[in-house]
Amino acid sequence: MPDRSAVGCPGDGSGKGGRPVLEINNLEVVYNRAVLVLRGVSLTVPDGEVIALLGANGAGKTTLLRALTGLLDIHDGEVTKGRATFEGEDLFGEEPDAIIRKGIAQVMERRRILADLTVEENLLAGAYTRRDPEVRDDLEAQYARFPVLGDRRRSVAGYLSGGEQQMLAVARALMSRPRLLLLDEPTLGLAPMLVDEVARVIQELNQQGISVLLVEQNAATALAISSYGYVMETGKIVHDGPSEKLMEDEDVREFYLGLGGEGRRNYREVKHYRRRKRWLS
Ligand SMILES: Nc1ncnc2c1ncn2[C@@H]1O[C@H](COP(=O)(O)OP(=O)(O)OP(=O)(O)O)[C@@H](O)[C@H]1O
Ligand SMILES: [Mg+2]
Repeated sequence: MPDRSAVGCPGDGSGKGGRPVLEINNLEVVYNRAVLVLRGVSLTVPDGEVIALLGANGAGKTTLLRALTGLLDIHDGEVTKGRATFEGEDLFGEEPDAIIRKGIAQVMERRRILADLTVEENLLAGAYTRRDPEVRDDLEAQYARFPVLGDRRRSVAGYLSGGEQQMLAVARALMSRPRLLLLDEPTLGLAPMLVDEVARVIQELNQQGISVLLVEQNAATALAISSYGYVMETGKIVHDGPSEKLMEDEDVREFYLGLGGEGRRNYREVKHYRRRKRWLS
């Protein structure tokens, strides 16, 4: 197999080099017909891989996921340029439930579970696009995967702990039997042990053949379990590469891993500062 790491494209991290399941090309998104929030974003998720998308608050990560799952409309947003394909089929213009039926599921930011419904009702809601008779079997499969959800199947979801709610959000997404899982900051606000647990679940799902686009600010975790990563800043990809290379990258380490930082506010500022330092020295 050719060594593709030299050119730095996704698919080289794991050595599997799968064909792309998700391809985003030159995506532009505008909110309220006025604010340009994504400015020409291109990104690929190869089959069977975990791809990390890092970026500070407001970079546009959630907006990118909304564009993929047909949820921009309800936020007064619009794709104004670019293309996205899932397994070769165009995504833009499709309704959210059609996108789920194609095989994409999203775990939204801040674990948007249905707080007044029970755990089981939440899981069944995740299967609303399905008409097959195997939904019950899949429920049991989720309870086997997440025993805590099985124990609490009749509890109101709003009373679960933060970590349990995150597991429920992931389990609910799995109820649509996705081939691509989009995760929006699944470790946000979790204690370190639970962060590890979420990371383990993502790896397990990936080993079962689900491709993952993992949006995170927790770069250490995201890069540890992904094969390739992208860094987004103010609506643009400013850096990308195999995850192990990103982990060693000084700018990424300083801003995202908090190693050797000197209080700079964003990734680009770190980069500018370094460039200036190089010029001055
Ligand atoms: N519905 C909206 N209307 C107008 N502007 C919006 C809307 N939603 C998000 N934005 C703006 O778009 C930009 C990107 O927001 P987005 O939520 O995509 O960022 P993010 O990278 O997910 O940030 P975070 O890490 O805080 O979740 C921000 O400047 C935000 O204020
Ligand atoms: Mg977000």
